[in-house]
Amino acid sequence: MDVPELERTARSAVEAVVEAPTPDVDPPQRVRPPGPRRARFDVDETPLAPAPEPEVDSVSRETSTQSAFPAPSETRIFVVANQKGGVGKTTTSVNVAAALALGGLSVLLIDLDPQGNASTALGVDHGPGVPGTYEVLIDGRPMADHVVDSPEAAGLKVLAATIDLAGAEIELVSMVAREGRLARALAAYLKDHHVDYVFFDCPPSLGLLTLNALVAAREILIPIQCEYYALEGVSQLMRTIDLVKGQLNDQLELSTVLLTMYDGRTRLAAQVADEVRRHFAEQTLPVVIPRSVRISEAPSYGQTVLTYHPDSAGAVSYLKAAQEIARRGAKESA
Ligand SMILES: Nc1ncnc2c1ncn2[C@@H]1O[C@H](COP(=O)(O)OP(=O)(O)OP(=O)(O)O)[C@@H](O)[C@H]1O
Ligand SMILES: [Mg+2]
Repeated sequence: MDVPELERTARSAVEAVVEAPTPDVDPPQRVRPPGPRRARFDVDETPLAPAPEPEVDSVSRETSTQSAFPAPSETRIFVVANQKGGVGKTTTSVNVAAALALGGLSVLLIDLDPQGNASTALGVDHGPGVPGTYEVLIDGRPMADHVVDSPEAAGLKVLAATIDLAGAEIELVSMVAREGRLARALAAYLKDHHVDYVFFDCPPSLGLLTLNALVAAREILIPIQCEYYALEGVSQLMRTIDLVKGQLNDQLELSTVLLTMYDGRTRLAAQVADEVRRHFAEQTLPVVIPRSVRISEAPSYGQTVLTYHPDSAGAVSYLKAAQEIARRGAKESA
């Protein structure tokens, strides 16, 4: 499949989600095939129960150049953070960003992790010597010089991370106003560029890179893996958020929590989800992201799951999460 075709397929998946009923609180029901139990990791690969055929609204079809998702009245800037490693920060950043872009919005993803996983997933070169976040943060280069288009969706742009960023934490220590460098660079970029959503994909630490994102952002999205110890570290993150709010960025709010890698067959996943919903009743999105082979395979093709397997449960869940984020943003700014 070529890129435009992939984009068309994913767009039609966006439209199906937009026109489908409100997202389920529980993960979608699946029809389990007869036979032996499948491997634990394959939990979501059983096809989704067929969704009711959406009613075709001829007016909205005719005006299909309009965004499928509502745009916020001003740029929403999210930091995707959790200092616990491997909880789905990058996966959530790239898939939510791509879903919003496929929904017709303009989106910028800033990769702040020296591993550059988000850049990989969005099909953007981040080999040694490729300019990106490091040059903006350390050399003070304008962001516009190094932002590139992602082939994943029209309207999706990326500031790539290279391994150079690994040294940035140390280089930043001796710099003046070190925690506000990214905020200033982003503010300058936003003066001249229209962007509906910005996402910072953070490394699994609360160092100066993450701090720069917390100072530049307005909202925090915490992905929480539905596993034991899920909330471990979240209280430390909350303390850091309070400190940043009190001293560096009083506009920062935890607006969104997303449950990831949900295995609907385990009682543990349901218990963790309940506990998270108790702690973060308003912030937790109704949809949960299932554990999915398709989601984990997509980056190795330089893709998000939305273009890699647009019909998979993982893709549909990320579309629903993006739809809800956009809906809440539009409501708040109304
Ligand atoms: N819903 C999912 N189902 C299956 N695998 C997943 C899912 N979400 C993420 N993964 C896989 O889990 C691993 C960790 O995910 P990811 O890289 O998004 O986490 P992270 O929080 O960004 O990690 P790090 O802290 O290292 O930056 C990756 O291999 C990813 O492909
Ligand atoms: Mg990551």
